[in-house]
Parts: sequence; C-alpha cells; structure tokens
Amino acid sequence: MKTVTCTAPVNIAVIKYWGKRDTELILPTNDSLSVTLSQDILHSKTTISASKDYTQDRLWLNGKEEDITKNRRMHNCFRETRALREKMEQADSTLEPLSTYNVHVCSENNFPTAAGLASSASGLAALVYTLAQLFDLNVTVSELSRIARQGSGSACRSLFGGFVAWEKGEAKDGSDSMAVQVAPESHWPELEALVCVVSDAKKGTSSTEGMQHTVQTSPLFQERLNIVPGRMEAMKKAILERDFQSFAELTMRDSNQFHSVCLDTYPPIFYLNDTSRAIIQLVHAYNNSSPDGKLKAAYTYDAGSNAVIYAPKENMREIIQLISHYFPSQDAATYFTDPYNVIAGAPLGQDFVPQGHASFNEKVIPVFAPGSVSRLLHTKVHDGPRILASEDDSLLNAEGLPKRTV
Ligand code: DP6
Repeated sequence: MKTVTCTAPVNIAVIKYWGKRDTELILPTNDSLSVTLSQDILHSKTTISASKDYTQDRLWLNGKEEDITKNRRMHNCFRETRALREKMEQADSTLEPLSTYNVHVCSENNFPTAAGLASSASGLAALVYTLAQLFDLNVTVSELSRIARQGSGSACRSLFGGFVAWEKGEAKDGSDSMAVQVAPESHWPELEALVCVVSDAKKGTSSTEGMQHTVQTSPLFQERLNIVPGRMEAMKKAILERDFQSFAELTMRDSNQFHSVCLDTYPPIFYLNDTSRAIIQLVHAYNNSSPDGKLKAAYTYDAGSNAVIYAPKENMREIIQLISHYFPSQDAATYFTDPYNVIAGAPLGQDFVPQGHASFNEKVIPVFAPGSVSRLLHTKVHDGPRILASEDDSLLNAEGLPKRTV
C-alpha cells in the first residue's frame, strides 16, 4: 500500500471564468485570472492510498463516504493520471503497477462547506496533485492543470501559487487549455485579501449549471467575450507592475460584469444579496473618501453572496474595522480571529467610529443586523499545493480507512 497526503489552496478570480465551449472536457469560453490564497487559512487536504487489495475506488469527503460511481469528473481525473502512470510502467517493468490498483481517497476542508466558500477548486486540485505524487508522475504543473481542469474548471488555477492565468486554448481536444503562473506569490507581498462570509440561507444555482444557462440565453455574455481579452492583458500588466489602482478597478468591473451577465441570463440568476450589495456600496464609499483619490480596496464575488476584498496590507486594519462596524458580529469568538495581528486590540464593531466620511451615507449603508456577515477571514497571496510528509498528517489509517468519520 502506498499513501500520500497533500493540501491545495483556494483561488479567487479577478477575471472570472464563466461559460464553457465544451462541457465534457471543461473548455472555457474565455481566459481567466486568479489569486491563490494562503493555505494556512483555507485549504483542502487529501490523502490517497493505492493497494492491490482494494476492491473498488472509494471517496470520503469531510468524514462521510460518497458514492462516486456516477462522478464522471472524478473518474476523468483518475483515468488521466492512471494513463500517465501506465505509460511509465510500460517503459520500466520494475515499477509497481499502481495504475492497476484501486484507490481510497479521503478529503477534508479546513473551512465549513456550509459557509459557501468555493471548495471544488481546492478539492479537485488537491485530488489531482495527490494522485500525481502517488503515481510519481513526471509532468509539469501546467500539464497537471489540464487534468484538474477536467475535474472542475477553476481547480486548474489552484495548482499554482501567486497570480495564475487559465488560458482557454483553441484546440478541440483541450490540449492547450491550461493554467500558467503570471507571477509567484513573492512578487506582490503587500497585496492581501479579506473574505467576508455573508450569511445566506438559500442554496444558489451551481456554477456548472448557471454558466451554461448564461451561454445559451444572454446576449450580454457575447459582448463580455469581446471585452475579456483586453481586460486579461490589462490585468497581467497591473499585476506585473504591482499597480493596485488598475488591479482594483479591473477586479471590481469584472465582478460587476459577471453578475450583470447573470442578471441578463433568462431566467436571471441572482448570486448577490442585500448584504453583498451593501459591501459593494461600502467599498465604493471608502474609496471615495480617500484623500488622494486613490482606490484603497476592491471587491469581487463568485457564484455566491460572499465578498472577497483585495487591498494593500496598509489598509487592512481600517477595512476590517469598517466591515465590522456596518456588519457587526453575532458571535465574537468566531467572527474574526486576527491571524496576522493587524487589529491588536484596536476598536471593532460599534466601538469603531468611521471618521469624517460624508460619503458614508447611513441611508445607503445602514448598520446591518448582527450576523449578516458571520465571519471575516484575513488572508494573503500564497503558494500552490503542498506535500505533507508526516504520518500524523494522513487522513487514512494503516488499513486505508478514514481515521475520522462522522
Ligand atoms: C464564478 O470551476 O466551479 O467561481 O468548471 O463547472 O466546475 P465548473 O465550474 P467552477 O466555476 C467557477 C466560476 C466562478 C469564477 C471563477 O472562479 O473564475
């Protein structure tokens, strides 16, 4: 039995992927670009073991066994990685025939799935990265991203740290549709992120389903496809020049356009709720209050109501104070844990008084009910998947079964 454990990060796009030209191979209609967030704060952890004694491929997700017999996306990832391993075994007969063994996969997120934070990107990236380690595949990260893409589109970007583009490619077979690193995490350490977990009872339309309704019904989506190429170039330039002004404006405009094409889908798809929209207003009011007219923060939203605010490190304390003032905590113990010690005892919530901002119109942005934002996660731009070598990190025991079940 051979066992490997890895973690993979969450990525949040600043130029959104929305729409497929091939739903089976998961080939997108436009390029996209994302920022990889620290695994110290958010990650998926996966242990995989392969053994000739296993009778079938099995998966445990957050402590519960899942039926994977109909999970085509997962089988695509198994098939592609096994095919690469098989080639190696054919070339070298001394290799253990791992490609013929069944596998046990055990995966956990260190964040509550119920919080609505994207888990498919980190989860599928962790799966593919761990399979590659298990099979000792000798392939580049971009090549691996082609396989992860077939598990979930956005997962291909979680195989790199830093700033990552997913090039849509042109080939029919998807051979040129893969992720590339635009810049490593060390390139722009001042850029940080705040994930605002917005409470939302309703279960929204999944990305997979929603994006194809957009492709089929939205005329505005066609216009977006003309806009994205120029935006990708401008975004890459902004990142390479560490130009927060351009980065922030492009990020907000692209998020707004993505949610506009959702509204233009027929019937419309709504991912933002009142709290999400108020956070948008607050970020604009905050930017308008800037004495030198410079943007201080940028919001972006995926297929859900949670906000991700990108900002230079120097503004993070003020942003956390502002959000906590207008969207106060219901449970102070879990609301904000200050992992990087930026608050360090400074006032939060109603103890913090936003100063001298005529633009902070209480009619537009009232103080919301406690708990409208349930959690604030302060995080940074960080690295790609990590291999965990210690036996203690394994989620599977010596029999290849989960150490922990629910
Ligand atoms: C709004 O990668 O979840 O987060 O490829 O169908 O699995 P599938 O979709 P998924 O879509 C993510 C969409 C998005 C934007 C983005 O991450 O670029």
